[in-house]
Amino acid sequence: MAEPHDHSHSQQDPIDIWHVRGHFATRVGFILAAVGSAVGLGNIWKFPYIMGENGGAAFLLVYLVCIAFLGLPVMLVEFVIGRAGQTSAVGSFRKLSTGTFPWWLNGLLGVFTGFLILSFYSTVAGWILFYMLHAIRGGFAEFATDEATAGAFFGNWIAGGTEPVVYQFLVMLMTGFIIYFGIEKGIERAAKLLMPLLFLMLGGLLINSLLSDGAMEGLKFMFRPDFGNLSYKAVLDALGHSFFTLSVGMGAMITYASYVNKDVHLGKTGLAVAGLDTLIALLAGITIFPIVFAYGVEPGSGPGLLFVTLPEVFARMPLGSFLGAVFFFLVFIAALTSAISILEPVVTWMVDDLNINRHIAAFVAASTVFLIGIPATLSVTSDSPLGSVLIPFPGGSLGFFDLFDKLTSVFLLPLGGLISCLFMVFAWKRASAMAELAGSTGNAGHILVAVWYRIAAFVAPLGIATILIYSVFGLVNKP
Ligand code: PFF
Repeated sequence: MAEPHDHSHSQQDPIDIWHVRGHFATRVGFILAAVGSAVGLGNIWKFPYIMGENGGAAFLLVYLVCIAFLGLPVMLVEFVIGRAGQTSAVGSFRKLSTGTFPWWLNGLLGVFTGFLILSFYSTVAGWILFYMLHAIRGGFAEFATDEATAGAFFGNWIAGGTEPVVYQFLVMLMTGFIIYFGIEKGIERAAKLLMPLLFLMLGGLLINSLLSDGAMEGLKFMFRPDFGNLSYKAVLDALGHSFFTLSVGMGAMITYASYVNKDVHLGKTGLAVAGLDTLIALLAGITIFPIVFAYGVEPGSGPGLLFVTLPEVFARMPLGSFLGAVFFFLVFIAALTSAISILEPVVTWMVDDLNINRHIAAFVAASTVFLIGIPATLSVTSDSPLGSVLIPFPGGSLGFFDLFDKLTSVFLLPLGGLISCLFMVFAWKRASAMAELAGSTGNAGHILVAVWYRIAAFVAPLGIATILIYSVFGLVNKP
């Protein structure tokens, strides 16, 4: 394993953060961290269910367009800002801009967004943890008896209140713990081993799905578009999810890129991260939808989709409880590596800009997220203790869980990404941005680098702004 690269040219003190945060090898470490951040609950839990809610294939196409023309270009903008800045997102904006315009506020917006995202992300990661333990105890066996059991079990459990909060607490404890001590070599090694294992497991489950009765219907649902069904909400969901799944719009990628050597080609890295992320989301969809149709589950059944369909399959498989436990364990690892990347920008900001000791910062940040997260966990269904508390939101009132989810995906992440693009255009020189993307060993004059700049400078901001303006006019939840 190579040593972490030299940060001595940086003005801040990232050596400290570097050591506390961990010993990623330069290139591999960065790619792993970025993939670990991108691949998470967004791919395996959220993507299939919002695709289900939005009618399938037509949504998928819009989503892929959003990844290519909005999410990926903005991810590269964040990479470029982070590596050039070599410090927290707030610090990078401050350091790289010359005028008086307060671009650094975008860094703060990211910190705020991170708090909100992790508040509901930790709820779902808690469900995953519970399912993993439930499978280990052999609990999936009972789902094989009839199709409704898995759905009823999940619905009752998440509405129960106390237990989900305890699991959410455990998730935040682990996330805070890793941030507190830094990401040790073991975590990097574990991620290297576990991510391929997740691929393998998904591959195995996928074959099982393709052999099921619902295979044809599932594939049609995913790949035969019917644009007549495409709603405005679907476009907005696709935009929001392309940001969420690539971890873009809140400074996570700025923070990670601040630890990268100059000789890394950020463009190539970004392509690899976005490609892998999309592949995992597609595999998850191809695994889940055939089962959905085979067992007559409603594809638009929302956040519970993963928790109802897969345990059902595991219940019927030989060694199902064991495989179920392994699968949910891998998903949990994917969730944890993403959770770390959501909390890290918050902690980095506290350390770099507020001069708070990292250990205290990790404790304060994780505890705050846990406290804000409790209402999210207690509001997931109308039967939940806070299920009837609704907050006004454009297009219709929402409970806390949905509010945090929608507010961040549909408004805050796209807004943060938009401002980063504008920052690159107005506060920075085009040549510097292109050179930063290619790195010291890449070709800054390459046509693809120029194409990226144009997309990030014109197409993405215009696209995001148009969609956001529509959202502000209250169309978020309208069909
Ligand atoms: N990309 C993660 C996922 O798909 O699960 C979620 C996420 C991580 C969102 C980091 C935002 C972020 F900054």
